[in-house]
Amino acid sequence: MDVFEAIQNRREVTKYLDKPIPKDQLEQILNAGYLAPAGNNLPSREFILVQKPEILQHLSKATPFMPWLEGAQAAIVITGRPEVSKYWLQDASIASGFIWLQSTEFGLGAAFGAIYHAEDAAESAKRENYVLEALSIPEDRRIVAILGLGYPEEQPPAKAQLPRETIIHYDQFQK
Ligand SMILES: Cc1cc2nc3c(=O)[nH]c(=O)nc-3n(C[C@H](O)[C@H](O)[C@H](O)COP(=O)(O)O)c2cc1C
Repeated sequence: MDVFEAIQNRREVTKYLDKPIPKDQLEQILNAGYLAPAGNNLPSREFILVQKPEILQHLSKATPFMPWLEGAQAAIVITGRPEVSKYWLQDASIASGFIWLQSTEFGLGAAFGAIYHAEDAAESAKRENYVLEALSIPEDRRIVAILGLGYPEEQPPAKAQLPRETIIHYDQFQK
């Protein structure tokens, strides 16, 4: 599968088979995050691989919008360090995309659980502290997202997109 095929095939998958993910594939998926670009090449993001079912079940309650994590085979928690880089949120976001695409290459499904909440600091702190405590993560780390991983029970169809010409512009913004 080439990169664009992975981009085209990638879907949010929230129903998973009860089938373990080979360790070498999980390590390669982690490599995809590790090798993702970072602003000023500063190491602001770190990743935690979670495979224990009881921890996945606990993390699935970090927000109301990720019940699917309970059925995942694994999760990767994406953290950021504002003290290391002003680009911590972008760094964590692009690494999440790389991880999602590498999972697609292996025929895995992934889902993105947003933890960091940009518009509600209190809600963000509540969600992030839940994850910090669950995984003994140092308090200076921010928790951007948790990606759930597993072999798809079904491949969801592509979602509708706005027409391409309303999204992509050439030379100047077309109103
Ligand atoms: C920044 C971001 C936050 C998201 N947060 C959640 C979430 O908390 N829970 C969830 O089930 N899906 C979440 N999603 C998944 C999107 O809803 C999904 O990717 C989108 O509907 C497009 O579907 P597709 O991934 O199948 O193309 C998030 C995706 C992104 C990029």
